[in-house]
Amino acid sequence: VLEGKDAAEAARCPHAASRARSLDAIPGPTNWPIVGSLVQLLCKGGLTRQHEALVDYHKKFGKIFRMKLGSFESVHIGAPCLLEALYRKEGHYPQRLEIKPWTAYRNLRDEAYGLLILEGKDWQRVRSVFQKKLMKPTEVVKLDRKINEVLLDFVGRIGKINVNGKIEDLYFELNKWSFETICLILYDKRFGLLKEKVNEEAMNFITAVKTMMSTFGMMIVTPVEMHKSLNTKTWQNHTAAWDRIFSTAKVYIDKRLTKSAARDPDDLIGDILHHSRLSKKELYASITELQIGGVETTANSMLWVIFNLSRNPGAQRKLLAEIKEVVAADQDPCGEHLKSMPYLKACLKESMRLSPSVPFTSRTLDKDTVLGDYAIPKGTVLMINSHALGCNEEYFDEGKQFKPERWLRENNTINPFAYVPFGIGKRMCIGRRLAELQLQLAMCWLVRDYEIVATDDEPLDAPDSTQDDTSVAEALMVHRR
Ligand code: HEM
Repeated sequence: VLEGKDAAEAARCPHAASRARSLDAIPGPTNWPIVGSLVQLLCKGGLTRQHEALVDYHKKFGKIFRMKLGSFESVHIGAPCLLEALYRKEGHYPQRLEIKPWTAYRNLRDEAYGLLILEGKDWQRVRSVFQKKLMKPTEVVKLDRKINEVLLDFVGRIGKINVNGKIEDLYFELNKWSFETICLILYDKRFGLLKEKVNEEAMNFITAVKTMMSTFGMMIVTPVEMHKSLNTKTWQNHTAAWDRIFSTAKVYIDKRLTKSAARDPDDLIGDILHHSRLSKKELYASITELQIGGVETTANSMLWVIFNLSRNPGAQRKLLAEIKEVVAADQDPCGEHLKSMPYLKACLKESMRLSPSVPFTSRTLDKDTVLGDYAIPKGTVLMINSHALGCNEEYFDEGKQFKPERWLRENNTINPFAYVPFGIGKRMCIGRRLAELQLQLAMCWLVRDYEIVATDDEPLDAPDSTQDDTSVAEALMVHRR
């Protein structure tokens, strides 16, 4: 029988029973010997469409289910009350699933770990250094000037590469925009990715990040040790990509470290580089991982904002009216303006609810934990399915529709644990504030200058952020206003 905190949780969560059952009792899809549900998942569209399969499984099995892919076993949660329970029981150092190909590379080259892969006290030490700056809205807003510098080039470029409203490689253009922005923030350097002719160094850098991201998935579902000992092409490409990422990042971090002390007082990263007690290796790893974390996630979110606005001209009109009301025609939008733009913020939230660029995150339980009906043992990997939560009609009325107004209602009853595109708790995305600022400013610049028009009405399913997406670009046009 549940006691204390667990009993209180059971009272709040309608799915919690008074007697917790064991892990084995959690329902789930076919679990064949050796492969588990891998074959079934491949039949449902493979790993890149995994988030859709997860929505189906939640419909079939409920708020919680258990799945095995090869030797990898996890418990999936897709109900706000279960997430809240997890959040309330969170320890000091929440853990995500280890990204083994990344740790294998760092160990091979004797490099440090950054926030994406650090654990325990070391994670907390590094996190607190960056958190003080990056999670504070009053600090992050100081970056609006740098963000705008790149946005000015971006909107200009959209005009140049626009052929009768079509932008052939919109997703790549957005990746170049987010890459250029995060590099300017982290390295204080313009790489020139939005120029007509991109220089070789910048192209090699962005290609290396793309290669690194596209090679690690395979080494998550198959043992990285095997790839390493057989020296497979995947492992070779992965390590070569990291080598290039680290060597380029180190050059620019070193340059910033040797710059004189008379720096711009708004330079958050410069401040961290000069004043934190982190070792040089830790700085290299942390800054590099901030860069990795901030490129495709932001680009993909912007892609879906553009798409959702194209399909919802009424919302786009309302957004334009708000922008015009707040930002004078001869002014650049800035962080201060955003304070008076609730509709813009609601549009971004609604887009990220419907089409989150990171459809799930994970936690490895560091203690036995009761969640809802089940007692889940320490060491279990939990998958937090933000995509499945955001599109569940039980938590969002007319959940398939783009309705920014839902976030602005006075008596809005949306459960905060149903909207988690940046994760939850102490380990949530550290770039959240920066990403929101960057996306909100981008929405201002783009919608003010361009009308975004849908070319058809066909439904499009959200791919995850690791996928190139041309289907979105094909479904819309942008015309200068
Ligand atoms: C972690 C999403 C932008 C850096 C995460 C997590 C999610 C996420 C879901 C996992 C959180 C958890 O496990 O609870 C996103 C989305 C973004 C975005 C949707 C854009 C729209 C950024 C940016 C940066 C960044 C711009 C860099 C400045 C990181 C880092 C972590 C992280 C370093 C690991 C934090 C830690 O474990 O302490 N992000 N992110 N992200 N993100 Fe982001």
